Amino acid sequence: MVKTLLSSTFLKVLVLFPLAALAAPASRNVAQKVQDTAGTGLVYTLGDTSYFANGAYPKATLKGRGVVQPHSKSVPHRPGAPVIDDFTPITVIVANETTVTGKYLESTIASYVAGDDVFNMDFMASLYLSAEKKATFDASAVKYLQGLGLDSLYIDSKVFGGKPAKIEKSKPVMVEGVPAKDLPSGPYTAVLSDSGLSLLSTYRLYRDEYRTFITGAYPSNKGDDSFAALEVMDSRWWNPMIPVPSRSQAWIAVTPIANATAPAIQRLVDLGAALIGKYKLAQFASGANPWDWVDEHYPFNPRGDGYLTCSASSSGGGCSVAAYEWLDNAIGSDTGSSMRRPAAVSGTYGNRPSQGMITLDKAVPLSWAQDTAGVFSRDPFQWVKFSKAWYTPELHQGPDITGLSPLVVPDNNKFPKRIQYLTDYLPLANPEAEKILQGTLSQMKALFNMTVETMNLTSTVREASIFPEKPEGVDNFKYMSSAGNNYDQYSSVIKPLKEGWAALTGGRFPPVDPAHRSSFSRQNDTQLNIDVYKQGLVLKNRTVNWFESEMLYETEESCSESMFICDIGTGGLPSYREKDLNEGDDAAFLAVTPPYAAITCANICPRFACADFTVPLGQVSYKSRVSLSEEKYPVSINLIVRRGCDFMLYNMVEKMAEAGILKTVKTGREAY
Ligand SMILES: *[C@@H]1O[C@H](CO)[C@@H](O)[C@H](O)[C@H]1NC(C)=O
Ligand SMILES: *[C@@H]1O[C@H](CO)[C@@H](O)[C@H](O)[C@H]1NC(C)=O
Ligand SMILES: *[C@@H]1O[C@H](CO)[C@@H](O)[C@H](O)[C@H]1NC(C)=O
Ligand SMILES: *[C@@H]1O[C@H](CO)[C@@H](O)[C@H](O)[C@H]1NC(C)=O
Ligand SMILES: *[C@@H]1O[C@H](CO)[C@@H](O)[C@H](O)[C@H]1NC(C)=O
Ligand SMILES: *[C@@H]1O[C@H](CO)[C@@H](O)[C@H](O)[C@H]1NC(C)=O
Repeated sequence: MVKTLLSSTFLKVLVLFPLAALAAPASRNVAQKVQDTAGTGLVYTLGDTSYFANGAYPKATLKGRGVVQPHSKSVPHRPGAPVIDDFTPITVIVANETTVTGKYLESTIASYVAGDDVFNMDFMASLYLSAEKKATFDASAVKYLQGLGLDSLYIDSKVFGGKPAKIEKSKPVMVEGVPAKDLPSGPYTAVLSDSGLSLLSTYRLYRDEYRTFITGAYPSNKGDDSFAALEVMDSRWWNPMIPVPSRSQAWIAVTPIANATAPAIQRLVDLGAALIGKYKLAQFASGANPWDWVDEHYPFNPRGDGYLTCSASSSGGGCSVAAYEWLDNAIGSDTGSSMRRPAAVSGTYGNRPSQGMITLDKAVPLSWAQDTAGVFSRDPFQWVKFSKAWYTPELHQGPDITGLSPLVVPDNNKFPKRIQYLTDYLPLANPEAEKILQGTLSQMKALFNMTVETMNLTSTVREASIFPEKPEGVDNFKYMSSAGNNYDQYSSVIKPLKEGWAALTGGRFPPVDPAHRSSFSRQNDTQLNIDVYKQGLVLKNRTVNWFESEMLYETEESCSESMFICDIGTGGLPSYREKDLNEGDDAAFLAVTPPYAAITCANICPRFACADFTVPLGQVSYKSRVSLSEEKYPVSINLIVRRGCDFMLYNMVEKMAEAGILKTVKTGREAY
């Protein structure tokens, strides 16, 4: 069980560009610009439908004065950028009659509605009227036009002698038309300027839900009959540009777009963070090997040969921070490993905070009492600064969610006295990586005057008396793992998904990745209930109380008397995105429980509510089975302290960075 990425599970943040405030009748959708596509055109929506307008080569340009209304002047242009701000959907009617009547206009528009894929009444915001030859309006045409509630009416001065009689509101503007053959009737997008208006060919965007296209294409209008690739993707369904994911499309289909921002995200906005996107993650913020991603194309890891795993599930976040210089941080959630393991395999800093550190209100839950949210960074100082700013006490979760005592997070230098080297998980499998770890431990001993001791966590916990009522012969790990059930994910995700999808599809079961199919189909109301869930939380509280009195405990001098270290990654061996490449001694599968260990390193803090930080230490060479060359693989270690000691651990990280023990990692192929 691994878990998620906040930017994914938290509410999507959508930025829409304001349009010049054209008044539209309530029944008409106003165009909302979605993007300018690098000089090729404009993407906008009218209601739920998206359109692309070819801005590079307008279909026609009509000269005229008074086209730009004063209000649209106020929209600022970015200097030098191919920005189209003053635009409006528009309908072009080229009349073939010498007398244009109301009836004619009405039947023409009705024929558009009935027979055109692109056209709908939203394009009646503005109207351009031309004719094949000299023509006039009669009184019925004027009356009809008045009733349309147009924002603007443009009239071809070459065919119509003058403006029709006063048409209220729509302020008819005379423009110089072009020959009828150069501008067929239909829906367009008009771009307004001081000298006239350009009419752009306009396309409705459909999603390629079956992913049958490499890219969309449209006539370039360059005059050479060429086509251009459509450089547009749908950010909600993640279609085009990158291979189209349909993953959790069933979930998207049954879930409305959230109507409020998650408080944890709002906190970032309030602190001035620039949010730029939403990451890929394993389905339902859970665990899944790269080769088990069916609906979504698995993200790429920039390290080494470029064919390494990004882990799951905050895979997109970890790998993006390792990849892009223009990106400072990513956030994600961690239920069972989802921040810490992606950080390990991408050679970045990534944490699972103490249980209860920050609200996950409005995030898609995997486990109410086990979900946490962490930060990825390349620079240790920035990681500390970001985290300390984000984790405000106002956003702590209460005992009602965690089932634990209220969280207290002192910001002090009461460092641990001992490092407990957990023999269940160490030494690292790759001897070269272990050398790096030993070097780091020596430096830490010197810097903090700590001792290093070995400990077998599995046997220590097995032999402890934790639960007096536990039947003889039942393993402590097994007993505590009966804590909780899947009621939380079942009631907030699985059940609404199954019911919503069944309602939409005549009783069908939703298409989900193989990792979830059998468990999602099995789970039902009879089997899962809130009482069992709550009993589980009580047992977890007892487990954590024991851990904090016998394992990682507070003293006068230390927030956490000792620190555990273990490895959540692969011990310095490459782990590939392709399954078969991980067989053999010089590669490794991720998320494997070591022999004789009761649980993985990843599972320690989800059970004991502690803070667990993945920190990169260095890199080792490996012979890639993909590039057939020597490549570098990141080496990292996990530092674990008592619940609530996060800020103390951040202070240790800063001291280690100041001493040169921890360094800023680079983007790309090599972290160092
Ligand atoms: C105008 O076009 C319509 C539809 O194509 C056609 O039915 C009608 O006969 C045309 N009228 C003239 C005068 O050409
Ligand atoms: C937002 O959505 C939630 C959940 O769908 C709903 O309960 C709530 O009433 C909505 N709030 C507003 C302001 O629309
Ligand atoms: C957890 O256990 C502690 C210690 O027994 C107790 O004080 C606290 O109330 C418990 N918390 C919850 C939410 O039950
Ligand atoms: C280092 O720690 C030991 C106890 O582990 C203590 O006796 C000693 O005084 C400490 N040294 C310094 C310089 O703090
Ligand atoms: C740790 O303890 C377990 C359980 O007693 C045992 O099976 C295992 O061999 C021990 N591991 C090490 C490295 O000593
Ligand atoms: C619910 O799940 C249990 C356990 O898997 C199963 O025995 C039972 O038949 C299921 N009930 C329904 C209504 O599907």
